[in-house]
Amino acid sequence: METKLLKGKPVSIHIKSRLSKKISNLKEDGVIPGLAAVLVGDDPASHVYVRSKSKVFESNNCFSKTYKMPKDSSETQILNLIDKLNNDSKIHGILVQLPLPNHLDSKKILNKVSPGKDVDGFHPMNLGSLFEGNPNFIPCTPNGIIQILDFYDIETSGKHVVIIGRSNIVGKPMFGLLAQKFKIGNATVTMCHTGTKDISTFTKQADIVIAAVGVPEMLTLDMIKDGACLIDVGINRVDDPNSEKGYKLVGDIDIKSVTGKASSVTPVPGGVGPMTITMLLYNTVLAAQLSRKANPII
Ligand code: GUN
Repeated sequence: METKLLKGKPVSIHIKSRLSKKISNLKEDGVIPGLAAVLVGDDPASHVYVRSKSKVFESNNCFSKTYKMPKDSSETQILNLIDKLNNDSKIHGILVQLPLPNHLDSKKILNKVSPGKDVDGFHPMNLGSLFEGNPNFIPCTPNGIIQILDFYDIETSGKHVVIIGRSNIVGKPMFGLLAQKFKIGNATVTMCHTGTKDISTFTKQADIVIAAVGVPEMLTLDMIKDGACLIDVGINRVDDPNSEKGYKLVGDIDIKSVTGKASSVTPVPGGVGPMTITMLLYNTVLAAQLSRKANPII
């Protein structure tokens, strides 16, 4: 069987082109969608992610500012910064890059972000609305996956989706979205995690597998059924003496082994990854639009 590569770039281009009209309309009204990224500490991967986010915002005529805080910042300092950003009218979206240093209470910090500026969709109010079937800001990676499934016409209704991983960022909201009676949804959804005894029992029954565990190439040929659609959320660095950097990026799916058996698979890099930032841009434009409605220019 030919295995189709579900690349993120065409999906991302399609969404950005729709957003560009909205961004120009807002600009005509004197509003430039603005993102504040709060980056605490010096985790190299987090710095790379935040830099990529800024670049995408700039190249799409939006504003972004990164607030770099030292790794030993106190909880009060971070909470005060978020408070200031909640009250800054130029900032429509606030993102606190995760993971935060261990001494900080991530839950307390994420809950401080005003739900109307929560472009990551991590606030309990936004997650609650999502599970109620009435989402406001949808977490970016799960929404990016929904957009990929939609763009490539992958049917989800009545299908069995197996999600591997129960994180608040991907697994849980993904479950909440695909189980709803939405256009991309209405699926029977199984969630596997570290407590699951034999993951392959479930993945072998899946029409769609979404792997979001951070274990390099854990999903292999013997774990899937013929014709399955595979979505890879993992971005793992593994040693590679042949590469200049000394490492390469691989996903949670062993793409070489599943090629020929799966009907489609997202590549790493270039699959789900680019969609996460695109959906962050989408949420920030949405936040700017909503703020206009709340404060119309008379
Ligand atoms: N760390 C890994 N993924 C994400 C994400 O989607 N948002 C934030 N804020 N931090 C992350």
